[in-house]
Amino acid sequence: MTKFSIIEELPQIVRNGMKAAEKIMNRPLDIPMEEKEIIKPMTYKGADRNTNKWMNQFYQQDNLIVIENLLKKGYEGKIDLIYIDPPFLTKTNYNGRSIVKYGKTERVIEHFAYNDIWDNGLITYLEMLYIRLYLMKKLLSDRGSIYLHLDYRTVHYAKILMDQIFGEGNFLNEIIWSYKSGGVSKRYYSRKHDNILVYSKTKDYIFNPQKEKSYNRDFKPYRFKGIKEYKDEIGWYTLVNLRDVWPIDMVGRTAKERVGYDTQKPEKLLERIILSSSNEGSIIADFFAGSGTTGVVGERLNRRWIMADKGALSLITTTKRLIEKKSLPFSIIKEHNNLGKAGRLSIKTIETIKSKEGIEGLNIELDNYELNLDNIGIKGKYKDIVKEIALNNSLALIDFIGIDIDYNGNIPTIDWQDYRRDDKMIINSNIKVFNKNLKGSNKIYIKYIDIFGQQNSMVYKIDNGV
Ligand SMILES: C[S@@+](CC[C@H](N)C(=O)[O-])C[C@H]1O[C@@H](n2cnc3c(N)ncnc32)[C@H](O)[C@@H]1O
Repeated sequence: MTKFSIIEELPQIVRNGMKAAEKIMNRPLDIPMEEKEIIKPMTYKGADRNTNKWMNQFYQQDNLIVIENLLKKGYEGKIDLIYIDPPFLTKTNYNGRSIVKYGKTERVIEHFAYNDIWDNGLITYLEMLYIRLYLMKKLLSDRGSIYLHLDYRTVHYAKILMDQIFGEGNFLNEIIWSYKSGGVSKRYYSRKHDNILVYSKTKDYIFNPQKEKSYNRDFKPYRFKGIKEYKDEIGWYTLVNLRDVWPIDMVGRTAKERVGYDTQKPEKLLERIILSSSNEGSIIADFFAGSGTTGVVGERLNRRWIMADKGALSLITTTKRLIEKKSLPFSIIKEHNNLGKAGRLSIKTIETIKSKEGIEGLNIELDNYELNLDNIGIKGKYKDIVKEIALNNSLALIDFIGIDIDYNGNIPTIDWQDYRRDDKMIINSNIKVFNKNLKGSNKIYIKYIDIFGQQNSMVYKIDNGV
């Protein structure tokens, strides 16, 4: 139970948050070394590497560092839309689920995705939110707006913070996203909605009104003069400007768009937001990206995107999802600090594929995958299952493998990928990668990510016959 009065704490949260945010703004950019990779989906046939054009960006880092970086690298005032769906102070941990199948055996493993437990509860939570929101405002363009997605637990406190940061006059809406799934209660009304607060930066914000169906009384035609009416299988309706209550189904167990990441939001929800508050070509951002819904929908709608999430599982889920959607090339930027945690993939052989004209490509035979179970957030029976898989077919733990077969030693462009698509497949241990430009002096860069999101990479030099 809360022992403090949040009303008394709020001024302090605001003062501290503002001071800390200004301190961040006034210090020179001093961030841990970063690593960058470019993922170029195999379906992408456009211009090759190192073009100076815009590239969508996924940061695997704490978003406070990402926001600071963006502000100091020229993105101040450049972003038209920010949507964020932070943890809701639910006091639980969230998981991802993987199904691993090898031979006739099928195993389900639940593993850590992200944490929503806060020392000191609401105060720490609001402090975390305040400093980020304060800095995000600086990223917004003068035509920009921000959508803050929360629920009954914190939205009322967050509204006070948002009024202070963005100004009460710039509050546009509280959108109620209503759904049917989830638990019910006998002691109070079933909680079946989330709240999304919308603020603009100035009065000159982008807003493209979207339409929704409004069914006529008794579903019959009115035949009013000058009002267009339509009919579907339910009955007659007119089109009206979207209201602030949005009934949209959650991403349920059988939904086609489901990627197995707890708290994944429906594409339909993001579609409305992106269409309403940005234009084609706008830069949109999501700093709590999760399974990457904002980028996936944004890209479909021809927006440029920036996403960030500190979770390992978020990166792999988003990467696979974007490749599946035949996305444009995008860059992954991550802190240079998590290699110690990752497992190691060993390679049995790498041989050149030769023809009369010379080397055509490589034949790579994977051997096994070794990982340190203490480094990944799994416990109890799941730990035993992983041990069993590691013993019987360790390659079944690999979720993604990507290769830059013509690595220039600088930023890898991963233009060959294989990954588990339907959860049950195992990555092929015999890989053939073709590239006629290969020379004896080429380097190849191999990146791999396991089902827990732990990533690692290695560089090989092709020594003529290898
Ligand atoms: C509710 S989920 C977002 C779900 C997402 N909207 C989707 O459709 O999948 C919240 C995400 O915020 C991430 N997160 C929490 N704190 C963060 C921080 N300080 N920096 C970056 N990401 C953070 C978590 O890893 C988690 O993936």
